[in-house]
Amino acid sequence: MHRYTASRLAEHSLALIADLQTPEGAYPASPTFSAYTGYCWFRDGSFIADGVSAAGDTDGPTRFFDWCAGVLRRRADHIRWIVAESRAGRPPEGSQMLPARFTFAGEDGADEWWDFQLDGYGTWLWALVEHADRHGVEAERWRDAVELTVDYLTASWQRPCYDWWEEHSEHVHVSTLACVAAGLDAVTDAGLVEGTRADEARVASLAIHGLVVERGVRAGHLVKWLGSTAVDGSLAAALAPLGFVSARSELGAGTIDLLERHLTVDGGTHRYLGDTFYGGGRWPLLGCFLGLAQLEAGDRSRAVELYEFAASTATPGLDLPEQVDGHLLAPRMRQEWLDRWGTVATPLLWSHAMLLRLGVALDASASPAPSAASRTSQPVQEGLAR
Ligand code: BGC
Repeated sequence: MHRYTASRLAEHSLALIADLQTPEGAYPASPTFSAYTGYCWFRDGSFIADGVSAAGDTDGPTRFFDWCAGVLRRRADHIRWIVAESRAGRPPEGSQMLPARFTFAGEDGADEWWDFQLDGYGTWLWALVEHADRHGVEAERWRDAVELTVDYLTASWQRPCYDWWEEHSEHVHVSTLACVAAGLDAVTDAGLVEGTRADEARVASLAIHGLVVERGVRAGHLVKWLGSTAVDGSLAAALAPLGFVSARSELGAGTIDLLERHLTVDGGTHRYLGDTFYGGGRWPLLGCFLGLAQLEAGDRSRAVELYEFAASTATPGLDLPEQVDGHLLAPRMRQEWLDRWGTVATPLLWSHAMLLRLGVALDASASPAPSAASRTSQPVQEGLAR
């Protein structure tokens, strides 16, 4: 069954992402949006790579992971210094940590940005293992860059940093922790790190799971940051595709329930209550993450609804935006952002990738024999997956 992956929108999404990948291998977040032009994020890029990899592209994601590895190798001495300082009890300032986004040439950006974010480094580890397994790509080619990343994360994961939305740097964010743990688990399970380094990665992952149980859960659901009571749309990713928490556990069900009730309106999911960015609209990519979680939890018809809403946000030219209006949390703030940065980022490659990713999962779940693309399914477990 290729109902979703063979759609015009899916074909357009795959072609758009392939066309816009730069000769260096980077995936631009959005080709035309003023604040994003010229930059590739590890977070967006890793999910974009995972989306097109799941949809059958072998070469593009491999080139993207090569690009990431190059970015890290060029900073190897700096990363070793960060790790040594952190281990010596002198964690460098946020401004000296690795940035969230790079130019296509792999340089740091020249513009001010909310750069210290750890999630993307976990997500690239997770996504490269998914890709290597899915397509039989030899992940050894990235081993040295994986080792640098693991050292960086095991030395730094406890630190507060900006979240997926590049906000609230004073907190430790649960979805960031989920990305870091998923990445560490993926590369240790794949044997890409060994010996003491693998032990450290396992210890860090266990500590992350313990900390989330202790301070990242409230009233039966995951919370936005440690000690918070609210949810965030990014938490759906902790369930699927990252599998940090089993979507079929009570905690998974509680999290899905709150994401649906607090943040989702007519199939479109907000980032969090209190969002004012462009008036705080609904993000199609977040509806797709929630769709993946619902599918994993066994509610295929809800996953289809979430897919349909995301698909309905496409422009007549089939481009998907970062967010849509129609239900704004802070309508009076919209104009301020329009004046500052122009119209909402469209196309946003990450939106296209998440639509592809959910489409692949929906098609696979409709087939009598599960395809390779559905192999990321997590075993049914209670609570946290480790
Ligand atoms: C979002 C980030 C994203 C970036 C590029 C920002 O507005 O908050 O999550 O990485 O745009 O798409």
